[in-house]
Parts: sequence; C-alpha cells; structure tokens
Amino acid sequence: MTDSSRETAIIHRMSSTTVSPETSNKCSTDPLMLVDVDHVRFWVGNAKQAAYFYASAYGFQVEQLADLTTGSRNSAQYLLTQGNIRVILETPLTKDHPASQELLRLGDGIKDIAFTVIDSQKAYEAALRNGGTSAYEPRTLSDANGSVTMAGLQVYGRAIHSLVSRTGAYALPAVKQGASFAPGFVPTKNFSLNEWNLKHPCGLKFVDHCVGNVEQGRMNYWVEWYENVMGFTMFKHFDENDISTEYSALMSKVMASGNHLIKMPINEPADGKKKSQVAEYLDWHDGTPGVQHLALRTDDELSSVAELRRRGVDFLALPDTYYEQVWERVDSMLRKHGHEAVKEDHQRIRDLGILVDADDEGYLLQLFTKPLQDRPTLFFEIISRRGSQSFGKGNFKALFEALELEQGRRGNL
Ligand code: FE2
Repeated sequence: MTDSSRETAIIHRMSSTTVSPETSNKCSTDPLMLVDVDHVRFWVGNAKQAAYFYASAYGFQVEQLADLTTGSRNSAQYLLTQGNIRVILETPLTKDHPASQELLRLGDGIKDIAFTVIDSQKAYEAALRNGGTSAYEPRTLSDANGSVTMAGLQVYGRAIHSLVSRTGAYALPAVKQGASFAPGFVPTKNFSLNEWNLKHPCGLKFVDHCVGNVEQGRMNYWVEWYENVMGFTMFKHFDENDISTEYSALMSKVMASGNHLIKMPINEPADGKKKSQVAEYLDWHDGTPGVQHLALRTDDELSSVAELRRRGVDFLALPDTYYEQVWERVDSMLRKHGHEAVKEDHQRIRDLGILVDADDEGYLLQLFTKPLQDRPTLFFEIISRRGSQSFGKGNFKALFEALELEQGRRGNL
C-alpha cells in the first residue's frame, strides 16, 4: 500500500461519521483494524436476473459488472450499491468454480461478509496465528491504477470473511464515489432501473448487523472464534427464556468488532415442541450453517418501508394485537430512562406494520422481510435506531409467532 493510500484509508477509518456505524470510544480492541464492511457477496444461480430483483424491489443501483464481455472467464459479478452498502452478486460460469458445487447443494445465499482492512496480508496472518482457518490465500488484482488484495477466513458453514485492502484508484473512498470496485469491473450501461432508483430512493445506508445460524450446541464455539480470531467481544446475549414461543426456542449471542463497526449475532436452535426458525434454515441447507439475515440501516424507517412496500417487498405481518400493547411497553421504558417518546407518527407505524422496541438507551424501529428466495430463510431486516443499540428483544415473542405462521405455511413447522 502506498503511503498516500494508507493515509487515505486511515483518515477514512477515523472519520466515523462518513462510514457505517457509530464508533464507540469505549472500544479499543480491533486487532485486524477493520475499516468498513467492504462488501457482501452473494453466490447466486443467475446474477444477471438477481440484479433486477434487488434493483427493483430494494432500490439498489446496478453500478458495475465483470463478466465475459469484460474478460472475466470464471464468473459473472455485479456490483450493486445503495448508501454505503456494496453487494456483489456472483454466478459461476464453469463447473470448476467453487460456487458451482455449493449452489447445487445449498442454493443462493450469502457467501462472504468482507471487511476492508489496512493490510489484508497482515490481518490474515494475524487471524491465522490466533486460530483462524484459511478460506483462500491472499491474492492481489492490480493494474496501473492500483490494487485490491483479498484473503479469506473460513467462518461457520458456507460463510467466509474476506479481508480486503485497497490502494490507488481502488481505495474505498474512491469506490464510494463511483470508481472501479476492482480491476476488471466496468460501469453498467443503460440499466434503466438506475435512474428510477435515484428518483425514488429506498434510503438504505449501511449494514447494521449480520446474523448467522449455526447448529445446536455450536454457538459458544463461534463466540470464542470471534473473540480469538477476530478480536470481537460479546455485546449482548439472549437465551431461550428471551427467545421462545409456545412451540420453539433459540439462543443468540451478539459479537461486536472492537470498533463496533459491525455486529454479528450468532443463533443456535434450542429444544422446543416444534421446529425453530434456525432449525428450518439448517434443514433447507443440508445442515450447513450460514447467514440468516442481513440488517440494513436507514435514518427514516417510515419512508424506507413505505417505498419498499410500494415496490412490492413482502414483509412479515404481525397480528393487530401487537399494536394494542406496544406503546405502553415502549413509552414506559423510555420514560423510565429519561428518553423522549417515539417521535414518529404512531398510526403510520401501525399502517406500515413496523415494529418498535425500547431499552435503557432509546428506541428502535425494525421490520423483517419474508425470505429473499424460494429456499428458506435468508431475509433482510430494515432497521432504524434512535439511541437503542439492541435488537428488538421486546418484539421477539410476537415476531417469532409470526415467523411460525409462515413456517407452517411452508409446511416446515
Ligand atoms: Fe436482526
């Protein structure tokens, strides 16, 4: 990395107001020096068609691509962007590409939550020294304009974390301004939905958290893995008393990077009378753990959800009785801790079917989509935070009852 690009990266890393999350002064451990969520890579059967779905339903810009026409012989990749969210949709073009076998077995899904780091090679070596397993060795793509180095760490099941460092024209601040994502990527031309999406924004800003489902009894293994290999710390935890319905239960621990750039909750199923949502995920992925949902942050939950609904996004529906109890629960919590009441219009929240929860730090608004694809259960969460850094614990019971209704409709309860 050149001095100037390192400086750019460090400056960028320090200017937390322009990157994803609120960085917290209390957090000092960040051994891998995560700068940002570089991108989220989906492996899909048909990236060209999937790009239309995410553009049309979720308002992403289909910004760049690397495919046969640009000299990419092994896979086709589409870069979709919105705010500080970068999604790569990738489809293998040959049977020898590792995605080919995985797609056959597991279907479309999230493969990689990739982090920008100052130095990919060094971060990768540090992670391996601390007990990490390699998903792939460091490799560098470069041209006269700069370079992108990536190295992969194997996480649960199909998931990996790539550690990405960038120099020259490929530095992340430049990519955010529309520069090429990596050597081989070119801007899309005449993608008609791009103009529509600029005029009708969905307002999604960055990845708030990313939830993984692992097998029963394996949650603590992965908690330790995040502590030892990534230098993450436990942020919150929920047991089956927090997350259970009459029928099913799960446990969850939320791991946060040292700088609170990202939170990675890890779920495992707990024993219940019927099948939990985590068990349903595992059943439909050949018992293989993976990412259950990606939470995308907006500053304006109501506008985002209204626009997404207008585009036909299918959200999880809660019973009307939810709103008979929610205001008392939320307002009393906010009063107790000296916070202002929920400022958004209560009737509009109800009309849009948005969920509300509060804790000692404030409140949050959230809503969950139905699965993004036919195979259950990968979904998006649309979340807005007004102080609260939690995950909607007060909504768990109502939410999971609604999820069980959907599981029942799929014949999976
Ligand atoms: Fe979530």
